[in-house]
Amino acid sequence: MKTLNLAHRGFSSQYPENTMIAFEQAYQAGADGLELDVQLTRDGEVVIFHDKMIDRMTNGSGTLSDLTLRDIKWVSIDGLMQDGLPRQKIPTLEEYLSWVHDKDFLTNIELKTPTGEDIRLERKVLDLVSHYGVEDRIIISSFHRLNMARVKKLRPAIQTGLLVPGCNDHILKLTKELGMDYIHPHALSLDETLIEHAHHFELGVNTWTVNELADLEKVAIDGIHAVITDFPDRLKLVQDKR
Ligand code: G3P
Ligand code: CA
Repeated sequence: MKTLNLAHRGFSSQYPENTMIAFEQAYQAGADGLELDVQLTRDGEVVIFHDKMIDRMTNGSGTLSDLTLRDIKWVSIDGLMQDGLPRQKIPTLEEYLSWVHDKDFLTNIELKTPTGEDIRLERKVLDLVSHYGVEDRIIISSFHRLNMARVKKLRPAIQTGLLVPGCNDHILKLTKELGMDYIHPHALSLDETLIEHAHHFELGVNTWTVNELADLEKVAIDGIHAVITDFPDRLKLVQDKR
């Protein structure tokens, strides 16, 4: 099966990451889907943003989880903003889903925050996914095992992947025991043995973040379900050659 092309934080090599324009441009560039990061605001809204602090990417400052949605909508995206582009705001997951729900486009939602006893993030994300009827086009992932265990418990049918910086058989076994469908290893830890062993545990492999053309050519191979890249245009070239 063709390796899927997932744009990391949208088309983030050319547009500001995790913004509606980066998502729309990934779709236009022919990606099969995209990866995005979600967190909760202080008043419990799910917004799409990578960092803990809003300082790097916006003209505001502070910790995202200390801010309300109203505070967040007050600021504008600054990082990598190009002249002539419409000014971008931090999107809510709801805004994204209302755009994507009628498209044949896969979304990998990464739960950014370890939620401890608080399950609002998992619940809200799953409720929104159901509300927009996109369950069949979603993979939920996280580095945090507890979040992922909760997602599987709340919604066993939803596709899930555990993010891991490095991998071995013990981690693969644990990932399977958590009920995951995929393992998401960093590209540096990827080799043929890992792919083979993941399949032995009946786990699909989605790897991140691969950007150089030569590396994309090596990694977009049989056995890899999806590659997450900042350059969906480059991966499209590789896909089209195959
Ligand atoms: O989902 C893969 C990748 O996005 C994980 O790392 O820091 O880019 O969210 P990060
Ligand atoms: Ca991410």
